[in-house]
Amino acid sequence: MARPLVCVRDYEEEARRLLPLSTLGYYQSGALDEVTLKENKEAMNRWYIRPRLLRDVHQRSASTTILGHRVSAPIGIAPTAMQRMASTDGECATARAAARFGTVYTMSTISTSSVEEVAQQAPSSLRFFQLYIYKDREVTAKLVRRAEAAGFSALVLTVDAPTFGIRREDLRTKFTLPSHLKLANFMADNNMSSRMNSSTGGSGANEYVKAIFDPTLNWGDVAWLKRLTKLPIVLKGILTAEDALLGLEAGATAIWISNHGARQVDGVPPTIEALPEIVKAVDGRCEVYVDGGFSSGTHIFKALALGAQMVFLGRPLLWGLTCEGEEGAYNILKILQQELDSTMALSGCATVKDITRDMVIRREYYSHL
Ligand SMILES: Cc1cc2nc3c(=O)[nH]c(=O)nc-3n(C[C@H](O)[C@H](O)[C@H](O)COP(=O)(O)O)c2cc1C
Repeated sequence: MARPLVCVRDYEEEARRLLPLSTLGYYQSGALDEVTLKENKEAMNRWYIRPRLLRDVHQRSASTTILGHRVSAPIGIAPTAMQRMASTDGECATARAAARFGTVYTMSTISTSSVEEVAQQAPSSLRFFQLYIYKDREVTAKLVRRAEAAGFSALVLTVDAPTFGIRREDLRTKFTLPSHLKLANFMADNNMSSRMNSSTGGSGANEYVKAIFDPTLNWGDVAWLKRLTKLPIVLKGILTAEDALLGLEAGATAIWISNHGARQVDGVPPTIEALPEIVKAVDGRCEVYVDGGFSSGTHIFKALALGAQMVFLGRPLLWGLTCEGEEGAYNILKILQQELDSTMALSGCATVKDITRDMVIRREYYSHL
């Protein structure tokens, strides 16, 4: 009998067995030496939880809000590209899982389902649309109009990708999108929709991005986007207090701390370490989210204690999708919710508001006593 999958790591191990090498390489890899990829995970253990006891925790809820929308837990789905490589329904399955669980699904621009398909397949989902800025601004503008029309509630502008980081595994496998799949948001233009299906000898993903993403991306583009839409704008990829403050000035509704799953600059800080500096700088003036390396309820608890309103997950959902499709994506969310609930109960927190800054401390504190 197959071993039951009871945690994110179980799903990851099973997905590693199931996925073709080039897809696995694309999903799992980080940039260059993958120092930050490793650090994203290891840094979680540098923070210890200080549980408080003898507090009545018999009634608990991790429910919270994001940009005014109620969600059942501060656990959201980060945008990851090309999800039909993991399961037949791809993005539609992920969005349905998010709706069933009651949280936000962020859809990648470079997805293998279109914004309209996702809206139709998961009409009750809370949907954010992740945006890249193309050299041809009209491409981006059109996507914004389509996301608005398809009922997406916010735009997540990815600011850390004027181009893609070098991911060696994609070079080794000469990664391309399998030919039966297309970039579904661009079906009106055959060149755009099938560009990821080929490579001239390196990574198809990097060649795609080099050809059409705009490396002039700058703060003026945030202002441009603000003029283009009434939707709230979340800036994803911020890693410093300086850029968080510029983001606020530019009118961002929320700051999303991310190192793109360690896929852009190798050697940047793990996101849980960047979190306190940014929370301090922003000082309650906008919502702050974080992603990168989160794979258990204790990790999520630590980020909440450090001031994040929401923790997003990328790869864990891809592992869930690979193993069990929509059910697997839903199970990943459920497992993390149960682990967060257990951590809350055992640490004296009945609600997310009870998870306060004094409940986490650096590991080094204990060696200086
Ligand atoms: C396979 C893969 C594809 C991704 N595609 C996108 C994308 O299209 N747009 C984007 O803003 N971020 C993308 N990301 C970054 C994620 O949104 C997120 O920042 C990261 O995966 C979080 O780290 P985690 O995977 O450790 O949870 C991608 C990440 C992975 C692993």
